[in-house]
Amino acid sequence: MRIHRSNLVGAATLALLALPLGASEGAMEYRQHTMAAVGGHTTALFDILTGKVEHTGHLAAHADALKAMSGLAGTLFPDGSEGGDALPAIWEDSADFAERLSAFEAAAGNLSDVVAAGGEVMPAAMQLGQACKGCHDNYRAE
Ligand code: HEC
Repeated sequence: MRIHRSNLVGAATLALLALPLGASEGAMEYRQHTMAAVGGHTTALFDILTGKVEHTGHLAAHADALKAMSGLAGTLFPDGSEGGDALPAIWEDSADFAERLSAFEAAAGNLSDVVAAGGEVMPAAMQLGQACKGCHDNYRAE
């Protein structure tokens, strides 16, 4: 958060600073809940691809949800939402982090396209898994 110098704005900023304790924790928890949903869709997708269940008709629902979620991912890390298992480097190295977000969007978009076209889903799903890993390895605590 940018701190303004003017006294008038400063007072308003102080009032705002008093609130975000709860607000930023909310943003962190919302990120975790959304990521948990991403994890759920990904695991369910692999349950189908590995033949654990035969719900091949569900593939598009999971792939499309992942595509939608990948489009939201960039909004899950606002300033002030630091914490949880999200490493501080996210807010320090935003150029590299932005590339990880783009890789996620590209892979999820491709997966959705491949499912819609009736193509080979496993390679596209593996590529998505690499996008998850590429970010987690660098920006998520073990
Ligand atoms: C651009 C970075 C990035 C990408 C891409 C990404 N994640 Fe995450 N993920 C994170 C970070 C950071 C956290 C830790 C969030 C926190 O604790 O606040 C996390 C947390 C999680 C969690 C734990 C959520 C919880 O309950 O706390 C799961 C599950 C998860 N990610 C799954 C996935 C899957 C599956 C993919 C790919 C389909 C993926 N993530 C892609 C950065 C990413």
